[in-house]
Amino acid sequence: MMRAVQFDRYGDPDVLYVAERPVPEPGPGQVRIAVEAVSVGHAQTQMRREVFPAPMWRPVFPVVLGGDVVGRITAVGPDVTGLRPGDRVGAFTLYGAYAEQVVVDAVTVVPVPEELDAAEAAVLPGTGLIALGILRTGQLRKGETVLVHAAAGGVGHIAVQLARAAGAGQVIGTAGAADKREFARTTGADAVVDHRSPDWADEVRELTGGRGPDLILDGVGAEVLHQGIDLLAPGGRLVFYGSSGGELEIPRVSVMALIGIKYVTGFALSAWRIGRPHEYEAGVAELTRLLVDGQVKSAVHARLPLERAAEAHTIVEARAQLGRVVLIP
Ligand SMILES: NC(=O)c1ccc[n+]([C@@H]2O[C@H](COP(=O)([O-])OP(=O)(O)OC[C@H]3O[C@@H](n4cnc5c(N)ncnc54)[C@H](OP(=O)(O)O)[C@@H]3O)[C@@H](O)[C@H]2O)c1
Repeated sequence: MMRAVQFDRYGDPDVLYVAERPVPEPGPGQVRIAVEAVSVGHAQTQMRREVFPAPMWRPVFPVVLGGDVVGRITAVGPDVTGLRPGDRVGAFTLYGAYAEQVVVDAVTVVPVPEELDAAEAAVLPGTGLIALGILRTGQLRKGETVLVHAAAGGVGHIAVQLARAAGAGQVIGTAGAADKREFARTTGADAVVDHRSPDWADEVRELTGGRGPDLILDGVGAEVLHQGIDLLAPGGRLVFYGSSGGELEIPRVSVMALIGIKYVTGFALSAWRIGRPHEYEAGVAELTRLLVDGQVKSAVHARLPLERAAEAHTIVEARAQLGRVVLIP
């Protein structure tokens, strides 16, 4: 048996509780990982509240949530090649990782170097790859201006650093609190605006000399996305990758908003891995190197034991995290 954190009804963070569960067995194409660290993303708090705006979320109670998991393989399924018990790996999984052991699909596994701290490495399999993938999808060119929404958050703080490392001319962030704006500046943003201000888009326009950003990375959606299309520079790209604002529908957008040669696209990590495997694999190698070299730093806001998962969710729901909140079984 093993310890896991689960919930069997939707609600506030206190629906999460520790339970004893059987150690899961990997089936064909799967591996089991002994969890060293698992990150708590914003989406998991939406799942717990039943407000996760994505169709692939089909919960079966009791639910054990997932995230970016780092650990060591303890068992491999029948037809898995290239992975062995003892390998240190990471994976990004929707389910099962708030636990001492988790089973994941082997195709989602990435190697994690021994020298990386587990909690810091818990951006490698998902959060950091999303940040890299949205920059690749947005085809950032040297010298361009990038706007990163939620720049102090999990994906955001890595995206700011990667944009900087990729030669962006100007990196502008948004964040909803003073400490988060300060934090985003320390990670490399030239300027950070408060998106709660009704004038935030005008402030960004002014910071770009009236032109607007060449690339917008949007994990918030809804009204922010709407305003972003308007804000884009001619030839600019907006990459939508998440709805932390909680809505999938965007307010009605006139096609006339696009005639200024504006590109709007979306990104999901699984779509990147399956649809552009070479780019994904190159991304895994690049991000690993940047983390090992220390050129990209993963900020761990809090390291909490599994039994304090409710506290971890409370921090994330309060939008208080600078970087990532991580659970350590
Ligand atoms: N495409 C993919 O493959 C993929 C996979 C996993 C997750 N995601 C998405 O990536 C995004 C970032 O995830 P993360 O875990 O790193 O989250 P995060 O950025 O650490 O947290 C979300 C942040 O969004 C901002 N926000 C703006 N409006 C909000 C609202 N109405 N309610 C709550 N927060 C709001 C908050 O920052 P401020 O207070 O500074 O505004 C909040 O801290 C999420 O949308 C998530 O669903 C995408």
